[in-house]
Amino acid sequence: MVTRSFLTVARKLQSPAAGTELMAPLLYDFVRLTRARTLLEVGVGYTTLFLLQALADNVAAFFHNRAGLARKTRGLLDRAEKTRSRVALSEEEFGRWMLDEPTYADPRYYVSDYRPRLFAFDDFSSKTSSAICVPAVAQQLGLAHLLQFVPARPAPNAARILRRYLPIDIAFNDGSEYESFLLTYSGLVNPAGGLLVLHNTVTAFGDNPILPFLRSWNRHNDDQFEVMSIVEPHKLFQGSCTVLRRICHAPANNRVASLKSKRWMTQMLASLDKKRRRQ
Ligand SMILES: C[S@@+](CC[C@H](N)C(=O)[O-])C[C@H]1O[C@@H](n2cnc3c(N)ncnc32)[C@H](O)[C@@H]1O
Repeated sequence: MVTRSFLTVARKLQSPAAGTELMAPLLYDFVRLTRARTLLEVGVGYTTLFLLQALADNVAAFFHNRAGLARKTRGLLDRAEKTRSRVALSEEEFGRWMLDEPTYADPRYYVSDYRPRLFAFDDFSSKTSSAICVPAVAQQLGLAHLLQFVPARPAPNAARILRRYLPIDIAFNDGSEYESFLLTYSGLVNPAGGLLVLHNTVTAFGDNPILPFLRSWNRHNDDQFEVMSIVEPHKLFQGSCTVLRRICHAPANNRVASLKSKRWMTQMLASLDKKRRRQ
């Protein structure tokens, strides 16, 4: 959680020129909301600590909710044993199971492990940035195990992102060279809703030229990304971001139907139990 003691330590890395005082908590919420596993950041500093804290909070929530899901599913199957239907859960059983804590948990999310990582690139080209202090402060906050610091530019170094961590769920660029970044990394972003976030794209002095570039590039690439810019109207500069969300155009199917089968629930519970024993 973003506690008072976290903020006291993190604020040491806040740089007025970077203007990420609101961007950092927004990124925290993006990571919590989307339960991103692999993060990429270009331009390290205050934001990095919020990204790391969000990953740590996701880990805690993952294990807590996975145990709760196993508990409530075991209860459901015990009760369902006594009912007449051998194959499918009744609407009432399924409805009650969904509302039990962890409410609305999707078992398919919990059957694979959650081992997150932030790959953070900075070439130390800025003299005013707090990038150099980040590894030590991450250590102080107990978050260093989630950080892979890469002291380099991202475009020529995509291979530094370990294959086992692909695809990237959220890529945040607060550095420069947005065009080469987009061309290098867009294909590595998770096709099922991965985000690319570019900071400071809309300013009082005009839009970053990346905006017209990315619109036409997206059009020529089957509109793979939904695009939205968010603007802080009270700031002249460093008060905006553009969010690209990668969407696959697979046809929608009835994803929930199979969950109501007792057999599926039993197999899912066995899989969660196995994982818990290995933990
Ligand atoms: C605006 S600061 C980042 C601020 C940071 N996100 C924060 O919240 O404090 C930009 C950083 O990007 C780095 N940078 C700029 N261009 C870069 C590039 N092409 N590759 C890697 N790092 C870059 C600079 O060294 C600097 O540390």
